[in-house]
Amino acid sequence: MLCLGIETSCDETSLAIIRDGEIAAQSLRSQEDLHAIYGGVVPEIASREHLRALPGLLDQVLSRSGADLGEVDAVAVTRGPGLMGSLLVGMGLAKGLVQGNGAALVGVDHLQAHMIAPELSRKIAYPALGLLISGGHTRLYALASNTDMEILGRTLDDAVGEAFDKTAKLLNLPYPGGKYIDRIAGLAEPDTTLFPRPYVDNQNLDFSFSGLKTAVANYVRDHPELRLKEMEENPDAERIAAQSPQLARVCASFSWSVSQGLRIKLERALRRHPEAESLVVAGGVAANSMIRSTVEAVAREREVELILPEPELCTDNAAMVAYTGSVLHSKGWCHDLDLEAVPRGRAIPWDYLPTGTA
Ligand code: KG4
Ligand code: ZN
Repeated sequence: MLCLGIETSCDETSLAIIRDGEIAAQSLRSQEDLHAIYGGVVPEIASREHLRALPGLLDQVLSRSGADLGEVDAVAVTRGPGLMGSLLVGMGLAKGLVQGNGAALVGVDHLQAHMIAPELSRKIAYPALGLLISGGHTRLYALASNTDMEILGRTLDDAVGEAFDKTAKLLNLPYPGGKYIDRIAGLAEPDTTLFPRPYVDNQNLDFSFSGLKTAVANYVRDHPELRLKEMEENPDAERIAAQSPQLARVCASFSWSVSQGLRIKLERALRRHPEAESLVVAGGVAANSMIRSTVEAVAREREVELILPEPELCTDNAAMVAYTGSVLHSKGWCHDLDLEAVPRGRAIPWDYLPTGTA
């Protein structure tokens, strides 16, 4: 069974081929450098770049896998959530390919793909609890299986990655700044009284980072000397932390507050779902060192198996889309050419058709 996956929901263009449940090849082009100039993803530029990159990446993934388009059984494409124009570019390619070779079309929920991609390297014990932390989303899921997931909580405003990136921007670190905050934070001790733990005085499983963001913004406004004088392309964490220990402390304290906010909601969710055998943590922010050690501690204390993928599998890639498509296809589900893209903020319908009817 050969499944070609297409990912174009944001600023990574990627194609991958899964052969019998394993990655045969992947090609990926990140647009990070293009958007960095603007301090965030510019949707129009993202769509144009996807269109430009896809043909070359398709050739590359086919030649790397040794597969022929004619052999592809299913084409899996991210249908959302994401930037509408970008999703449509991937969707256009997917529909063209299935019309050309008669493969099945499988629309994939990008967030489901993030959650179940760790299965590419190890088995997930279900029922599981899932925490998705990326630049666009922050969600808690109850996973009954790899195709049955219920949303338990979500962010009411910024995603965790957005909170990291906006804090980085306040300090004049380049976009996307999460990784720089992480590196600088590792060189200082957090001051646990500096910033509030975000949105923890309630009984729900939702997240909100606007209060924390305002607290950091106010602190930087009152201490303007913390802001780096010049934005550098690839800032050196060691030098910055040595020159400004207080800036490093701000990064560490912010990371601590975020980690504690996530810890409190995770522990609450695990208490409410004692049936969970494992905890899956995925998304770009799952690369963060303080968050990784926090979720490791939670899993140890609650005695659930922790599934925390390698950072390369945390960020956007087509292998996760191809894998999810191959799982859905093997369970007998697909879409027809009426498949529509779903923008960020709208629920993704469960509208699969039995294979063979599309
Ligand atoms: O999942 P992802 O690659 O893209 C989507 O948003 O779908 O996540 C990107 C986000 C960005 O906000 C980036 O700053 C953040 O993940 N990120 C990190 C780290 N590495 C990436 N945030 C904190 N610490 C990191 N080490
Ligand atoms: Zn993503």
